[in-house]
Order: sequence, then structure tokens, then C-alpha cells
Amino acid sequence: MPRTAGRHFLQIPGPTNVPERVLRAIDFPTIDHRGPEFAALGKEVLEGMKRVFGTAGHVVIYPASGTGAWEAALVNALSPGDRVLMFETGHFATLWQKMALRLGLEPDLVPGDWRSGADPDAIGERLRADREKRIRAVCVVHNETSTGVASRIAEIRRAIDAARHPALYMVDTISSLGSIEYRHDDWGVDVTVGGSQKGLMLPPGLSFNALSEKALDAARSARLPRSYWDWQDMLAANRDGYFPYTPATNLLYGLREALRMLAEEGLENVFARHQRHAEATRRAVRAWGLEVLAKNPAEYSDSLTAVLMPAGHDADRVRELILERFDLSLGTGLTKLKGKVFRIGHLGDFNDLMLMGTLAGVEMGLALAGVPIRRAGVLEAMAHLAERHARPARAAA
Ligand SMILES: Cc1ncc(COP(=O)(O)O)c(C=O)c1O
Repeated sequence: MPRTAGRHFLQIPGPTNVPERVLRAIDFPTIDHRGPEFAALGKEVLEGMKRVFGTAGHVVIYPASGTGAWEAALVNALSPGDRVLMFETGHFATLWQKMALRLGLEPDLVPGDWRSGADPDAIGERLRADREKRIRAVCVVHNETSTGVASRIAEIRRAIDAARHPALYMVDTISSLGSIEYRHDDWGVDVTVGGSQKGLMLPPGLSFNALSEKALDAARSARLPRSYWDWQDMLAANRDGYFPYTPATNLLYGLREALRMLAEEGLENVFARHQRHAEATRRAVRAWGLEVLAKNPAEYSDSLTAVLMPAGHDADRVRELILERFDLSLGTGLTKLKGKVFRIGHLGDFNDLMLMGTLAGVEMGLALAGVPIRRAGVLEAMAHLAERHARPARAAA
């Protein structure tokens, strides 16, 4: 391949651009993971992750991709044959359901249209109909990365409470954590699943469970086989800042730096920054004359936008052309959405000019591919950015 000058634009919805500070932090000699220096690192990242999840409870860090943390959530808290209520928000919700099936659970997947979030009313209805309380967990993907739709996690909690149902509440925040507001404790979530490679600005390879006391209680009697994922082994070692097996030491250096960066900016400012970039992106899409896949404005994702292609135009062909001409990677349409949408990631370590570069690449690529658009998206996005205070407030000192 010939050399491409300048920086690659990695605008898929994760993995995201890893900032220089995090790259430099990772680039240090690996230390003894049973020595005193490691214990300080372990304690700092475990504490920092609690702030990001919004919990005073325990957080577990696995050397695994997000899929590992999905499995950990299920095998620690549930038993063979347990019913789990899931909602078909898109590709990732469907994959989590398949995993539940493979593990010997009985998932009940509420059908969805891949353009909407999990419906609190439909969940409440299913729970009320479950008079024998056989459903042991409700599992929801907060931000469905395949569609750019964010489910209303607090409202779903209220629906579970209104149905007076004791099921555990499990939420996947792999593409929302550190980008979109999330409150594990306040929203009454029992197990939150997270991953390193999106809002946390790290390479892939770490994933997380945040745990409620109720989840820990459930784990005491849960009977699905588990070994590597066992919360108790983790929590026992974590008390002193250690891990039960060899941790991903260098990724933890990166996590320490990323947590410091999020704290310096202030989580509220991080969320506001994502909101502003997401709105500018949606305005660009509409100005092009194209449609955002997400149907309901209350469920728009602040971390990515999926864009519907007009009939007769293949989204993957446009993506290929944009990669070839502008060295810009966009997210592909997954399974049912293949060829029908492309996804713009606007999450992680990202600023106004990175967004403008991205939208300019998309606008030029759409025109080059012969997609009938108005060449007005970049201007519209610029107008929104200018209007909505160019610089977020500084984090409180
Ligand atoms: C919402 C969501 N859940 C789960 C996963 C799976 O995580 P991983 O690919 O890190 O195993 C992803 C990956 O993109 C995701 O976006």
C-alpha cells in the first residue's frame, strides 16, 4: 500500500482515537504485578472507574474485550435455565441474547425495529405478566452501537419498580461509558458492563463490571459454571490493589492516564461535548437531505450517528471510497443494516475540528459516489458549533 500522508481519521464508533497522553502512558516497562508499585496503580484505577460508572460499590476490571464482561455479568449472577428478558435494539443486543442461549439461559427477546431503544412500557408489561417471578434478569444495551440509539435506562428502572419485579437489571454501556451520562447507583442498575476502547479512549483489551450489593448476593447462589470471570476472586485480590491473575499492566497505565484526563475535563463537560458534536452531526445529515436512523429524538445517541442511505445506493461502497480518497474510516452497517447505513463515530478524544474534518470527508465522499445530496451539511454543522459556545466550561479546579 502506498504511504498516506497525515493522520488517519478513525471515525468508527470505537475503537476510538487514542490520545497521545494515553499512548505515552502505556509506553513504559511492565512492572511486577505483585509488587508495591502495582498495588498503587490497581487502587487508583479501581477508584477512578467507580466515579465513571457513578457508583460507590465495586468495579471489576478484566483483561478482555467487552464480550468477556458480558459473559462475566451473566455467569456470575445467574443459574442454568434462568429466564432473562432482553430487548432487540440491534446487532449487539442480539449478540448478547445469543450468548445467553449458549450459556444455557432462557432469553426472552422483545422484538424491536433497530431504530428505537428498549421500550420501558413493553418491559414493564412482560414483567407484570411474569406472576411467578421466573425472570431473573432484565438486560439492556444502553447505547446500541449498530443503530445509534440510546435507551432510557432510568425509565426502564422505574418500569421494573412499577411492576414490583425482583429481577436483576443489567446494562451494557460499552459505547456510552465516558461519553453519555450514566449513573449506576442512582439508576438502580445491578450489573453494568463497560469496555475500554470507546469513551475511555484506550485501545481494546479491558472490560468492566460495576456491581450492586444485590448482584453480589445473587452471585452467592448462582450456579452457572465460572472460573476466570469469578467476581469473588477478583474482589478478594482487588482489596489490596492486586488481581487474581496477570493483569493487562500497560493498559492499566493507559487507564490511569485516561481517568486523569476525564477528571481534568470534568465528566459533565465531557458529556456536553459529546452532545454538541452529535447534534452538529445530525444537522449535517439532515442538511445533506439524508435521514438519521434513530427515530425518536429522546433516544438519539451522543456517541455515534447511523445515516440511512437513499434507495439504490450502497453504504459500503461510499465508505470504501471515503477510506481510499480521504483516509477516513467510518462504521459499516451490521447484519440487517449491511449496505443500508454507515455510522459516524463522534466519541472519545474528539474536538470541533476533528468533527469538521470528518463531516467534510463524508460530504465529499457522498458527492463523489454520486449520492444525491445538498452540499450544505458541513456549513450547517459549523453554524451549530459556532452558535453553541465554542469552548466548554473548564472543569472545577
Ligand atoms: C454495545 C456493545 N456491546 C458489546 C460489544 C462487544 O464488545 P467487544 O467487541 O469489545 O467484545 C460492542 C462492541 O463494539 C458494543 O458496541
